[in-house]
Amino acid sequence: MLVLLLKVATVFGFFASPVLTHGIVTGIVANGVYTQGWSLDFYYDIVNGESYATTPGWYEDALDSGFIPPSEYQDPNIICHKDGRNANISATVAAGSTVEFQWTNPWAHNIGPMLTYVANCNGDCKTSSASCRREKYDTDECKQIDKSTLEFVKIDESGINFTTQEWAAGVMIANNASWTSTVPESLAPGHYVFRHETIACHGASTLGGAQNYPFCLNIDVTGSGTENPTGTLGVDLYKETDPGIYFNPYVTLTNYTIPGPALWTG
Ligand SMILES: *[C@@H]1O[C@H](CO)[C@@H](O)[C@H](O)[C@H]1NC(C)=O
Ligand SMILES: *[C@@H]1O[C@H](CO)[C@@H](O)[C@H](O)[C@H]1NC(C)=O
Ligand SMILES: *[C@@H]1O[C@H](CO)[C@@H](O)[C@H](O)[C@H]1NC(C)=O
Ligand SMILES: *[C@@H]1O[C@H](CO)[C@@H](O)[C@H](O)[C@H]1NC(C)=O
Repeated sequence: MLVLLLKVATVFGFFASPVLTHGIVTGIVANGVYTQGWSLDFYYDIVNGESYATTPGWYEDALDSGFIPPSEYQDPNIICHKDGRNANISATVAAGSTVEFQWTNPWAHNIGPMLTYVANCNGDCKTSSASCRREKYDTDECKQIDKSTLEFVKIDESGINFTTQEWAAGVMIANNASWTSTVPESLAPGHYVFRHETIACHGASTLGGAQNYPFCLNIDVTGSGTENPTGTLGVDLYKETDPGIYFNPYVTLTNYTIPGPALWTG
């Protein structure tokens, strides 16, 4: 009964308003293979002790399918969304190839940049065991990778087209709510966390008014690359006063400073 109520509640959006304007990465296509990302239903499955689909999408607790505000840029929640915890399997992609990220469709926020980062786990990205439940995550059995040590390298970024004034988020929406990033060919093979993000900037004229939607997935990179670029800790990616975070988007823009560290394309 409890399960039923919770699921009905999600369907009718009691936890989320308005449900269609927010969301997550629901799936990816890597190496031509579709893999599910995350689903809010999994949260209730876990809480209710039910089994749920095994996916490389990180666990997260954003019950309103919402965002991380700039006031949490120096909080662990910005790393891989609210209470983000690593998945226990990984997808695979070849360096030089692409990962398509599919967002909740339709997606409503068409003002803002799109960004993709990778962080090398320097070992396994997937340490939790099958029996791990949310309330046991801090036990030895369910030891998680320490996301606060992950160093993120930005491999893809897109802001606004100054000719058309179309934002990357608008391109994502027009592309069936999906965004495709290329994995640099020279990136060393290994176990990585991919952090894909859109920053909704419709409220960016107000300090703290931007909305970050980060989402993480475990993806192993294959190939013969040799480069291990230096990354940035998640809590050091952004400041609420960054020029691309706190600005007026309702004028004709002739420059836009894409948030985050420098782009690395190999
Ligand atoms: C991963 O977690 C899921 C959900 O708890 C579980 O069904 C699956 O067996 C686990 N897989 C591995 C490889 O641990
Ligand atoms: C901006 O849009 C114009 C018109 O569609 C296009 O020709 C141009 O290539 C775009 N610029 C960039 C940097 O994508
Ligand atoms: C559009 O994206 C959805 C997932 O959001 C997918 O199921 C569907 O196949 C896609 N449609 C096309 C035409 O690619
Ligand atoms: C545009 O450039 C000006 C001058 O360098 C800077 O002050 C402003 O923050 C930039 N605007 C954006 C949105 O990046």
